[in-house]
Amino acid sequence: MPEALIEDFGKTVVAWQRRHGRHTLPWQNTRDPYRVWLSEIMLQQTQVVTVLGYYERFLARWPRVIDLAAATLDEVLAMWAGLGYYSRARNLHACARAVAELHGGEFPSTAAALQTLPGIGRSTAAAIAAFCFGERVAILDGNVKRVLGRVLAFDGDLASSAAEKRLWDRATELLPERDVDRYTQGLMDLGATVCTARSPDCLLCPVQPLCRGQQEGDPTRYPVKTRKLKRGRRENWWLWLESAEGRVLLRQRPATGVWAGLWTLPMFDDEAGARAALPDVDLETLPRIEHALTHFDWVLHTVRAEVAEEQLPGTWVAREQLARYALPAPLKKLIDES
Ligand code: ADE
Repeated sequence: MPEALIEDFGKTVVAWQRRHGRHTLPWQNTRDPYRVWLSEIMLQQTQVVTVLGYYERFLARWPRVIDLAAATLDEVLAMWAGLGYYSRARNLHACARAVAELHGGEFPSTAAALQTLPGIGRSTAAAIAAFCFGERVAILDGNVKRVLGRVLAFDGDLASSAAEKRLWDRATELLPERDVDRYTQGLMDLGATVCTARSPDCLLCPVQPLCRGQQEGDPTRYPVKTRKLKRGRRENWWLWLESAEGRVLLRQRPATGVWAGLWTLPMFDDEAGARAALPDVDLETLPRIEHALTHFDWVLHTVRAEVAEEQLPGTWVAREQLARYALPAPLKKLIDES
């Protein structure tokens, strides 16, 4: 893009953000890196509406990064339960500890230094540095790849890291001289509200006159990404055991893999396995649950019975105490609705 258009692009995004962007999200109107960082991690792969409640609860419980650093990983996982992508919670905790122990409780103030911390990638580091310290650095999250990919009619295949690197370079060239914080928020807001994945609202778009994708006729052709996820399918059986005292048997998942470290009902590969755990007990079959994860669709069957606690080892948890455990979203829903 010629120099004059670059300037026009930046100014237009900034002016549009001022008038039409989002201004009242709880992580806006602050330059506190702890608040901004927490929001950026939660907002990775997760919608604003989902994040809102979690964000407030985290801040109420851990008002400063050193408070979060002092929490146990299990406490953090329990508060994170339901947000998904649990490696984020583990990194969140590790990052809080690194900030507390290696940086005296203060987040570093440059994107380069932020990026050395656990769970903070290049785009998240840039967002924090732009919002909190006004650093002139580019972000390139999924939404911004889409906006810039379309504006530039960028035809490199983002499945290739060389093409992605070129888009980073273009994003950096487009940065305005000033107001990088507002520009950054403007790109995010455009991606979330106007330049949406399936039906961009080009009539409302402030940079429509500059958008090469729109000039070509079909902005949704961009960005190009060929690698397709081949989705798998898995099936498992949950054994829901409740004792006469009203306690539920939970097991903790291994430290790696899906739902790592979370607590679930005892899980089996097939119905026979679940039944074999309790050969003489009548099990009630509940409706199956379908849960979509990034790489596969998970069908979860549940069989349920009341048993004496001595019959099976594990952690028996009173219903009122379940909120203290990190339960995956579908299990939380199953228990709440029963
Ligand atoms: N997604 C990622 N960062 C965001 C922010 N600061 N505001 C709204 N949505 C976002």
